[in-house]
Amino acid sequence: MGERIYLDNASTTFPKPAAVPETMVRYMTVAGTNIGRGDYSSAFDVEDAVFCARERLCGLLGGEDPSQVVFTRNVTESLNLVLKGYLRPGDHVVVSSMEHNAVMRPLSQLAELGVRVDRAECSPTGELDPACVERLIEPCTRLVLTTHASNVCGTVLPIERIAEVCRAHGVRYVVDAAQTAGVLPIDAAGWGIDVVCFTGHKGLLGPQGVGGAVFCNGFASEINALVAGGTGSSSDLERMPAFMPDRLEAGTPNLPGIIGLGAALVWIEERGIDAIREHELALTGRLIGGLAELEDAGKVRVVGKKSLEGRTGVVSIQTPGRELAEVAHELDARHGIQVRVGLHCAPSAHRTLGTFPTGTIRFSVGWANTEDDVDAALAALREILA
Ligand code: ALA
Repeated sequence: MGERIYLDNASTTFPKPAAVPETMVRYMTVAGTNIGRGDYSSAFDVEDAVFCARERLCGLLGGEDPSQVVFTRNVTESLNLVLKGYLRPGDHVVVSSMEHNAVMRPLSQLAELGVRVDRAECSPTGELDPACVERLIEPCTRLVLTTHASNVCGTVLPIERIAEVCRAHGVRYVVDAAQTAGVLPIDAAGWGIDVVCFTGHKGLLGPQGVGGAVFCNGFASEINALVAGGTGSSSDLERMPAFMPDRLEAGTPNLPGIIGLGAALVWIEERGIDAIREHELALTGRLIGGLAELEDAGKVRVVGKKSLEGRTGVVSIQTPGRELAEVAHELDARHGIQVRVGLHCAPSAHRTLGTFPTGTIRFSVGWANTEDDVDAALAALREILA
């Protein structure tokens, strides 16, 4: 692969800290044993490593107890676990209008079984007034679910205030932290959130194929397992164990993935989430500043908020008069700049932002990007759109 500048960190972060692949290779070549199934020392070591990863996730995302941290394959599976394991025909759900298809597709399956869904409309810059959520709550509302930050334009939703609304009405609150785990501080238990669903391969800097959910307030005991099977525990029973996390985890987990994620969490703790965020926000400010000049010249339209407050390092643009896919292709083919183009699996968000069905070109910075990367992207855009 030639020189490239990777600006698609909202899709998956790249590169990972070196300790991530190193730790995974070490597990696969040295330890290599299963978890919870062997009475020998390397199996206990794996057990310890997985427990440490649960503890770190519990600490980072504000959980109450590491045993309430469940591993899945990704945030999509975590959201499916919560939605399909909790909702029943006749239940009502409120979501924001900025949700990803990881939320909307399982909900549309559930709608066919009699679950009703309402969308709280966000502003054309993706902001949500918690009062809009409150107005939609009915006596049969059992769940509110919102993203923490948009994967299209980076706008952060006020999850702490939405949690207050949910508490006041006795409704469970689920946060999709796909874009914010490892990126923004989250205090699930302190803020009154019932479950934070996360993926390991974005802001948490781990490998693909591992995600999870941090449950609080006894919510996990109300969820049915999405997948049932062996847990290495209570093997005399033909039903899932009642205790956590075994209650919601079946089959051999993605051990290289969990162990790699554990190494990424150590790296994040050492670097500090605030320092990572400060770096990413500085780059985002530089990017938005350069795009504003192109916007003044009528070459691009910046979608969503232009301020740095309440946003992540995800920035979307449209290019009036030029095909988005063509511009994105030229960014890559001529300048080695890798971005995502289209609807980003979030048609509802694009409808809210007024960018459906065309979509946007999306830039998303990460911990390893530099000012030079941002300047190169801006220079490339200037040339392509000249
Ligand atoms: N949901 C991820 C993205 O926004 C994959 O690119």
